[in-house]
Amino acid sequence: MFFPVLLALLLATFDPIHASNCKKPHFEKCSCGITDYLGNKQYVVNCTDTGYTNASMLQYLPDETQVLIYTGNFISELPWNLFGNDYSHDRLKIVDLSNNRIKTIRGKTFHHVRNVERLILNYNQINLAFTGEHPRLFSNFENLEALHLTNAFNTSWTSYENFALDLGEIFRNSNLTKLEKLHLEQNQILNFETDPLLFCELKNLMDLHLGNNNLTHIKFKFACLERLRYIDFHANKITNLNENDRHLLDALPQRNQSLIIDVSENPLSCDDIDSLYDWFHDTKVTIQSKEKIQCKPEPMIGVTQELRVARVEANGSSGTVTFLSIALCMSLLALLYTNREPIRNTVYPYVLSLSRNIQYTTIGRSEAQEMDV
Ligand SMILES: *[C@@H]1O[C@H](CO)[C@@H](O)[C@H](O)[C@H]1NC(C)=O
Ligand SMILES: *[C@@H]1O[C@H](CO)[C@@H](O)[C@H](O)[C@H]1NC(C)=O
Ligand SMILES: *[C@@H]1O[C@H](CO)[C@@H](O)[C@H](O)[C@H]1NC(C)=O
Ligand SMILES: *[C@@H]1O[C@H](CO)[C@@H](O)[C@H](O)[C@H]1NC(C)=O
Ligand SMILES: *[C@@H]1O[C@H](CO)[C@@H](O)[C@H](O)[C@H]1NC(C)=O
Ligand SMILES: *[C@@H]1O[C@H](CO)[C@@H](O)[C@H](O)[C@H]1NC(C)=O
Ligand SMILES: *[C@@H]1O[C@H](CO)[C@@H](O)[C@H](O)[C@H]1NC(C)=O
Repeated sequence: MFFPVLLALLLATFDPIHASNCKKPHFEKCSCGITDYLGNKQYVVNCTDTGYTNASMLQYLPDETQVLIYTGNFISELPWNLFGNDYSHDRLKIVDLSNNRIKTIRGKTFHHVRNVERLILNYNQINLAFTGEHPRLFSNFENLEALHLTNAFNTSWTSYENFALDLGEIFRNSNLTKLEKLHLEQNQILNFETDPLLFCELKNLMDLHLGNNNLTHIKFKFACLERLRYIDFHANKITNLNENDRHLLDALPQRNQSLIIDVSENPLSCDDIDSLYDWFHDTKVTIQSKEKIQCKPEPMIGVTQELRVARVEANGSSGTVTFLSIALCMSLLALLYTNREPIRNTVYPYVLSLSRNIQYTTIGRSEAQEMDV
């Protein structure tokens, strides 16, 4: 008769499903406990929006922690040996340090992270130039499978051209041999010219996410990555894929390695678009989001106009649609051109302000946070 009451009491005491306030000293503002995270019951320590201004309490991180969520705080610098020396943290699998305004990470920051599979540093202000002096940043993540660096860097530092070089230096000194997924979206990356080989050290890389950057071409080495299967170039500033680029992309399926790329939402030049569509049709590379691929005609009278290309597959009827749309646009442009003076005076100010508004409509689509490890 007392048994059910006892059971209820026991359940209430241990409360195994819902994480509750941490009883651990130093973690009073966090929640701790077994909860459902990504479909698994895991021991989660969750310090979200706690207002902490330093991360020194993380040296006391409970040893049973499997998932650490430490986001929305104000930590400009991560201290040396972030997770302390008292515990081994062998169970720690996921570390989320997003949105903490982190500027500096030192080479000796991460120890006891041997079994971490996913590290998330999104939405911070990391100064890579400074971090570059400590290139062994990720050296202890022996089993890291996914690294999330979306909008992670301060993009206004002076030597931003060295972005590739600094990042490459970190990869070369970090032994990320198990890394499969790398997210680098929204970092205003212009190119990888200072270190085209930067990804080659990541021997197991499968998915490379470069969406929402400022890349104008795809000149970097990826043939060195034998497991690469997906490159996301969407919403960059790529104007064409020349013969050489196509050749490099074709090389992967030719050696039995399937490859998917996404080049949608790039200002591809309409001059090359027909030959590009022919390549889309012929190549063994899978082209994702074809319906969102647009080309941009050469600007006339200062008005750049987006032209949506209807020809998704090499397909008779839609080919005609393309031809008709192009013809229509050409005649419109010709009409505009003959009347350019009056139009310039009345319309141009509106177009300018409109195009400013349109610029960032896609920025909200951040990385597809696939949470399957
Ligand atoms: C972590 O805590 C925040 C704020 O309390 C909450 O919104 C979020 O859902 C928690 N995350 C998990 C995975 O429990
Ligand atoms: C870290 O922050 C705590 C309060 O959250 C404060 O008591 C402590 O002095 C701070 N430590 C350092 C090194 O600033
Ligand atoms: C980013 O870097 C610039 C130049 O080094 C610096 O002036 C600025 O304060 C930094 N921004 C943040 C948020 O740290
Ligand atoms: C890299 O890690 C592997 C184990 O994952 C280890 O065998 C190897 O010695 C490490 N190399 C360096 C340079 O640390
Ligand atoms: C990247 O592109 C955005 C939008 O066009 C622009 O505002 C920003 O200044 C560019 N960044 C760099 C580093 O050129
Ligand atoms: C490509 O893969 C197929 C199926 O896995 C295999 O039969 C074939 O031998 C492979 N070819 C090469 C060149 O590796
Ligand atoms: C060709 O276009 C028609 C509609 O015009 C569509 O139903 C058909 O699926 C397209 N064929 C291919 C191969 O996409």
